[in-house]
Amino acid sequence: MQILRNIAAARAALPSHASLGLVPTMGALHEGHLALVRAARARCATVVVTIFVNPLQFGPHEDLSRYPRPFERDCALLEAEGVDCVFAPCAEELTPAGEITFVDVPSIAARLEGASRPGHFRGVATVVSKLFHIVQPEFAFFGQKDAEQCAVLRRMVRELNFPVELVICPIVREPDGLAMSSRNVYLNAQERKQALVLHRAMQAMQAAFAAGERNSLALLYAGRAEFAREPNVQMDYLEVVNPDTFESASEATGALIVVAAKVGNTRLLDNAALS
Ligand code: PAJ
Repeated sequence: MQILRNIAAARAALPSHASLGLVPTMGALHEGHLALVRAARARCATVVVTIFVNPLQFGPHEDLSRYPRPFERDCALLEAEGVDCVFAPCAEELTPAGEITFVDVPSIAARLEGASRPGHFRGVATVVSKLFHIVQPEFAFFGQKDAEQCAVLRRMVRELNFPVELVICPIVREPDGLAMSSRNVYLNAQERKQALVLHRAMQAMQAAFAAGERNSLALLYAGRAEFAREPNVQMDYLEVVNPDTFESASEATGALIVVAAKVGNTRLLDNAALS
Protein backbone atom coordinates (compact mmCIF):
# COMPACT_ATOMS: atom_id res chain seq x y z
CA MET A 1 0.00 0.00 0.00
CA GLN A 2 1.39 3.40 -0.97
CA ILE A 3 1.04 6.40 1.34
CA LEU A 4 0.93 9.64 -0.61
CA ARG A 5 1.49 12.79 1.46
CA ASN A 6 1.21 15.51 -1.21
CA ILE A 7 -0.65 16.38 -4.42
CA ALA A 8 2.32 15.88 -6.79
CA ALA A 9 2.94 12.39 -5.42
CA ALA A 10 -0.76 11.53 -5.82
CA ARG A 11 -0.82 12.78 -9.42
CA ALA A 12 2.32 10.81 -10.31
CA ALA A 13 1.13 7.61 -8.65
CA LEU A 14 -2.42 7.65 -10.04
CA PRO A 15 -2.07 8.12 -13.81
CA SER A 16 -5.22 6.32 -14.96
CA HIS A 17 -8.75 6.80 -13.67
CA ALA A 18 -10.46 3.81 -15.27
CA SER A 19 -11.80 1.56 -12.52
CA LEU A 20 -10.36 3.78 -9.81
CA GLY A 21 -12.48 4.00 -6.67
CA LEU A 22 -12.11 6.86 -4.19
CA VAL A 23 -13.24 6.71 -0.56
CA PRO A 24 -12.94 10.17 1.06
CA THR A 25 -12.69 10.11 4.87
CA MET A 26 -11.48 12.20 7.76
CA GLY A 27 -9.85 9.14 9.37
CA ALA A 28 -10.58 7.72 12.84
CA LEU A 29 -11.88 4.80 10.85
CA HIS A 30 -14.62 2.43 12.01
CA GLU A 31 -16.72 -0.31 10.41
CA GLY A 32 -18.86 2.29 8.60
CA HIS A 33 -15.80 3.58 6.73
CA LEU A 34 -14.52 0.05 6.16
CA ALA A 35 -17.84 -0.93 4.55
CA LEU A 36 -17.23 1.81 1.95
CA VAL A 37 -13.68 0.53 1.43
CA ARG A 38 -14.98 -3.03 0.93
CA ALA A 39 -17.59 -1.83 -1.56
CA ALA A 40 -14.85 0.00 -3.47
CA ARG A 41 -12.53 -3.04 -3.30
CA ALA A 42 -15.31 -5.26 -4.71
CA ARG A 43 -16.00 -2.92 -7.60
CA CYS A 44 -12.73 -1.23 -8.59
CA ALA A 45 -9.27 -2.30 -9.77
CA THR A 46 -7.59 0.46 -7.76
CA VAL A 47 -8.83 1.81 -4.41
CA VAL A 48 -7.65 5.13 -3.02
CA VAL A 49 -8.71 6.24 0.47
CA THR A 50 -8.18 9.84 1.51
CA ILE A 51 -7.62 10.77 5.13
CA PHE A 52 -7.99 14.50 5.57
CA VAL A 53 -9.56 16.34 8.50
CA ASN A 54 -10.95 19.15 6.41
CA PRO A 55 -10.71 22.51 8.22
CA LEU A 56 -13.12 24.13 5.72
CA GLN A 57 -16.08 22.09 6.99
CA PHE A 58 -15.64 22.86 10.71
CA GLY A 59 -17.21 25.94 12.29
CA PRO A 60 -15.14 28.17 14.61
CA HIS A 61 -16.54 26.54 17.77
CA GLU A 62 -16.50 22.94 16.52
CA ASP A 63 -14.14 20.06 17.28
CA LEU A 64 -11.43 20.52 14.57
CA SER A 65 -8.49 20.55 16.98
CA ARG A 66 -9.69 17.61 19.08
CA TYR A 67 -10.98 15.49 16.17
CA PRO A 68 -9.33 12.03 16.61
CA ARG A 69 -6.35 11.38 14.30
CA PRO A 70 -5.09 7.79 14.82
CA PHE A 71 -3.18 7.79 11.52
CA GLU A 72 -0.99 4.69 12.03
CA ARG A 73 -3.96 2.61 13.17
CA ASP A 74 -6.05 3.83 10.19
CA CYS A 75 -3.27 2.86 7.74
CA ALA A 76 -3.00 -0.63 9.29
CA LEU A 77 -6.78 -1.12 8.90
CA LEU A 78 -6.67 0.03 5.27
CA GLU A 79 -3.67 -2.13 4.45
CA ALA A 80 -5.58 -5.15 5.82
CA GLU A 81 -8.49 -4.28 3.48
CA GLY A 82 -6.19 -4.37 0.45
CA VAL A 83 -6.32 -0.63 -0.26
CA ASP A 84 -3.82 0.46 -2.92
CA CYS A 85 -3.13 4.05 -1.81
CA VAL A 86 -3.82 6.31 1.12
CA PHE A 87 -3.78 9.98 0.16
CA ALA A 88 -3.23 12.09 3.28
CA PRO A 89 -2.14 15.59 2.33
CA CYS A 90 -1.42 18.25 4.94
CA ALA A 91 -3.93 21.06 5.48
CA GLU A 92 -1.45 23.72 4.30
CA GLU A 93 -1.27 22.06 0.88
CA LEU A 94 -4.90 21.01 0.28
CA THR A 95 -6.58 24.03 1.87
CA PRO A 96 -4.00 26.85 1.86
CA ALA A 97 -4.86 30.03 3.70
CA GLY A 98 -5.95 32.71 1.25
CA GLU A 99 -7.66 30.44 -1.30
CA ILE A 100 -11.05 31.99 -1.97
CA THR A 101 -12.62 29.75 -4.60
CA PHE A 102 -15.46 27.72 -3.10
CA VAL A 103 -17.99 25.24 -4.43
CA ASP A 104 -21.42 26.06 -3.09
CA VAL A 105 -24.64 24.07 -3.62
CA PRO A 106 -26.88 26.67 -2.05
CA SER A 107 -30.40 25.29 -1.94
CA ILE A 108 -29.84 21.99 -0.12
CA ALA A 109 -26.79 23.22 1.77
CA ALA A 110 -28.82 25.85 3.62
CA ARG A 111 -31.23 23.34 5.15
CA LEU A 112 -31.02 21.26 8.36
CA GLU A 113 -27.31 20.40 8.84
CA GLY A 114 -26.46 23.42 6.72
CA ALA A 115 -28.65 25.71 8.84
CA SER A 116 -27.13 24.35 12.08
CA ARG A 117 -23.57 24.48 10.70
CA PRO A 118 -23.24 27.52 8.41
CA GLY A 119 -20.55 26.99 5.76
CA HIS A 120 -20.27 23.26 6.50
CA PHE A 121 -21.46 21.95 3.13
CA ARG A 122 -19.52 24.60 1.24
CA GLY A 123 -16.43 23.22 2.98
CA VAL A 124 -17.40 19.64 2.14
CA ALA A 125 -18.22 20.38 -1.53
CA THR A 126 -15.03 22.41 -2.00
CA VAL A 127 -12.71 19.77 -0.58
CA VAL A 128 -14.48 16.84 -2.28
CA SER A 129 -14.26 18.63 -5.64
CA LYS A 130 -10.53 19.18 -5.04
CA LEU A 131 -10.11 15.47 -4.24
CA PHE A 132 -12.03 14.56 -7.42
CA HIS A 133 -9.71 16.79 -9.48
CA ILE A 134 -6.55 15.37 -7.92
CA VAL A 135 -7.44 11.66 -7.84
CA GLN A 136 -9.84 11.62 -10.86
CA PRO A 137 -11.80 8.55 -9.76
CA GLU A 138 -14.34 6.73 -11.90
CA PHE A 139 -16.34 5.88 -8.74
CA ALA A 140 -16.54 7.63 -5.37
CA PHE A 141 -18.03 5.94 -2.31
CA PHE A 142 -20.02 7.78 0.37
CA GLY A 143 -22.19 6.68 3.31
CA GLN A 144 -25.94 7.17 3.62
CA LYS A 145 -25.13 8.04 7.26
CA ASP A 146 -24.55 11.61 6.02
CA ALA A 147 -27.64 11.75 3.81
CA GLU A 148 -27.65 15.51 3.29
CA GLN A 149 -23.95 15.41 2.34
CA CYS A 150 -24.87 12.75 -0.28
CA ALA A 151 -27.64 14.98 -1.66
CA VAL A 152 -25.30 17.99 -1.84
CA LEU A 153 -22.58 15.96 -3.59
CA ARG A 154 -25.02 14.30 -6.03
CA ARG A 155 -26.14 17.73 -7.07
CA MET A 156 -22.60 19.09 -7.30
CA VAL A 157 -21.53 16.18 -9.54
CA ARG A 158 -24.57 16.66 -11.77
CA GLU A 159 -24.39 20.43 -12.08
CA LEU A 160 -20.59 20.67 -12.46
CA ASN A 161 -20.39 17.65 -14.81
CA PHE A 162 -17.84 15.67 -12.80
CA PRO A 163 -17.12 12.42 -14.70
CA VAL A 164 -17.57 10.36 -11.54
CA GLU A 165 -20.27 7.96 -10.39
CA LEU A 166 -21.28 8.30 -6.74
CA VAL A 167 -21.94 5.03 -4.93
CA ILE A 168 -23.96 5.49 -1.72
CA CYS A 169 -23.54 2.68 0.86
CA PRO A 170 -26.00 1.82 3.69
CA ILE A 171 -25.57 2.99 7.31
CA VAL A 172 -23.52 0.64 9.49
CA ARG A 173 -24.80 0.48 13.09
CA GLU A 174 -23.62 -0.86 16.43
CA PRO A 175 -25.59 -3.98 17.51
CA ASP A 176 -27.89 -1.79 19.66
CA GLY A 177 -28.75 0.51 16.76
CA LEU A 178 -26.43 3.50 17.27
CA ALA A 179 -25.07 4.62 13.90
CA MET A 180 -21.29 4.29 13.84
CA SER A 181 -19.46 7.61 13.89
CA SER A 182 -15.93 8.79 14.59
CA ARG A 183 -17.51 11.10 17.18
CA ASN A 184 -18.99 8.22 19.24
CA VAL A 185 -15.64 8.00 21.08
CA TYR A 186 -16.51 11.34 22.76
CA LEU A 187 -19.52 9.74 24.54
CA ASN A 188 -19.16 8.60 28.16
CA ALA A 189 -21.01 5.46 29.33
CA GLN A 190 -24.17 7.33 30.33
CA GLU A 191 -24.25 9.41 27.12
CA ARG A 192 -23.68 6.26 25.06
CA LYS A 193 -26.97 4.87 26.45
CA GLN A 194 -28.80 8.18 26.03
CA ALA A 195 -27.61 8.39 22.40
CA LEU A 196 -29.90 5.48 21.51
CA VAL A 197 -32.85 7.87 21.58
CA LEU A 198 -32.06 8.94 18.00
CA HIS A 199 -32.56 5.38 16.78
CA ARG A 200 -35.58 4.82 19.06
CA ALA A 201 -37.32 7.94 17.76
CA MET A 202 -36.84 6.86 14.16
CA GLN A 203 -38.02 3.32 14.97
CA ALA A 204 -41.18 4.73 16.56
CA MET A 205 -41.82 6.71 13.38
CA GLN A 206 -41.13 3.70 11.16
CA ALA A 207 -43.49 1.59 13.27
CA ALA A 208 -46.27 4.17 12.90
CA PHE A 209 -45.56 4.27 9.15
CA ALA A 210 -45.72 0.45 8.96
CA ALA A 211 -49.06 0.62 10.77
CA GLY A 212 -50.42 2.79 7.96
CA GLU A 213 -49.78 6.38 9.12
CA ARG A 214 -48.74 8.52 6.13
CA ASN A 215 -49.01 11.99 7.62
CA SER A 216 -45.53 13.29 8.46
CA LEU A 217 -46.78 15.45 11.34
CA ALA A 218 -48.32 12.41 13.04
CA LEU A 219 -45.06 10.50 12.58
CA LEU A 220 -43.06 13.39 14.03
CA TYR A 221 -45.36 13.43 17.04
CA ALA A 222 -44.39 9.79 17.72
CA GLY A 223 -40.69 10.55 17.28
CA ARG A 224 -40.74 13.65 19.50
CA ALA A 225 -42.41 11.64 22.27
CA GLU A 226 -39.28 9.48 22.44
CA PHE A 227 -37.07 12.55 22.81
CA ALA A 228 -39.36 13.87 25.56
CA ARG A 229 -38.49 10.74 27.56
CA GLU A 230 -34.73 11.50 27.28
CA PRO A 231 -34.45 15.09 28.56
CA ASN A 232 -30.63 15.01 28.72
CA VAL A 233 -30.47 14.78 24.94
CA GLN A 234 -31.01 18.07 23.17
CA MET A 235 -32.78 17.53 19.84
CA ASP A 236 -31.54 19.89 17.15
CA TYR A 237 -33.98 18.75 14.46
CA LEU A 238 -36.22 15.82 13.64
CA GLU A 239 -37.82 16.09 10.20
CA VAL A 240 -39.41 14.11 7.39
CA VAL A 241 -37.86 15.32 4.14
CA ASN A 242 -37.60 14.69 0.43
CA PRO A 243 -34.28 12.77 0.11
CA ASP A 244 -33.12 14.82 -2.88
CA THR A 245 -34.10 18.37 -1.97
CA PHE A 246 -34.22 18.06 1.83
CA GLU A 247 -37.44 20.09 1.82
CA SER A 248 -40.04 19.02 4.38
CA ALA A 249 -42.36 16.34 3.03
CA SER A 250 -45.93 16.35 4.34
CA GLU A 251 -46.64 12.94 2.77
CA ALA A 252 -44.31 10.32 4.24
CA THR A 253 -44.14 7.67 1.51
CA GLY A 254 -40.67 7.65 -0.05
CA ALA A 255 -39.46 10.35 2.35
CA LEU A 256 -36.50 10.27 4.73
CA ILE A 257 -36.47 10.78 8.50
CA VAL A 258 -33.46 12.92 9.45
CA VAL A 259 -32.40 13.65 12.99
CA ALA A 260 -29.61 15.55 14.75
CA ALA A 261 -29.16 15.85 18.49
CA LYS A 262 -26.58 16.83 21.07
CA VAL A 263 -25.71 14.24 23.68
CA GLY A 264 -23.53 16.04 26.20
CA ASN A 265 -21.17 18.02 23.96
CA THR A 266 -21.36 15.56 21.09
CA ARG A 267 -23.57 16.21 18.08
CA LEU A 268 -24.92 13.04 16.47
CA LEU A 269 -26.75 12.50 13.18
CA ASP A 270 -28.92 9.71 11.88
CA ASN A 271 -31.54 9.02 9.22
CA ALA A 272 -33.90 6.29 8.05
CA ALA A 273 -36.05 5.77 4.96
CA LEU A 274 -39.85 5.55 5.05
CA SER A 275 -40.81 2.99 2.44
P1 PAJ B 1 -16.19 11.07 7.61
O1 PAJ B 1 -17.12 11.55 8.66
O2 PAJ B 1 -14.86 10.52 8.00
O3 PAJ B 1 -16.96 9.98 6.76
C1 PAJ B 1 -16.38 9.42 5.62
C2 PAJ B 1 -17.43 8.61 4.88
O4 PAJ B 1 -17.86 7.53 5.71
C3 PAJ B 1 -18.69 9.45 4.57
O5 PAJ B 1 -19.14 9.15 3.26
C4 PAJ B 1 -19.66 8.99 5.63
O6 PAJ B 1 -21.03 9.12 5.24
C5 PAJ B 1 -19.27 7.52 5.76
N1 PAJ B 1 -19.74 6.97 7.03
C6 PAJ B 1 -19.51 7.46 8.28
N2 PAJ B 1 -20.16 6.72 9.21
C7 PAJ B 1 -20.82 5.75 8.53
C8 PAJ B 1 -21.69 4.67 8.92
N3 PAJ B 1 -22.00 4.46 10.19
N4 PAJ B 1 -22.19 3.88 7.95
C9 PAJ B 1 -21.88 4.12 6.63
N5 PAJ B 1 -21.08 5.10 6.21
C10 PAJ B 1 -20.55 5.92 7.14
O7 PAJ B 1 -18.01 12.55 5.72
C11 PAJ B 1 -16.86 12.95 5.85
O8 PAJ B 1 -15.89 12.26 6.57
C12 PAJ B 1 -16.34 14.23 5.20
O9 PAJ B 1 -17.40 15.15 5.13
C13 PAJ B 1 -15.73 14.01 3.80
C14 PAJ B 1 -16.75 13.42 2.81
C15 PAJ B 1 -14.51 13.06 3.91
C16 PAJ B 1 -15.24 15.36 3.25
O10 PAJ B 1 -14.31 15.97 4.07
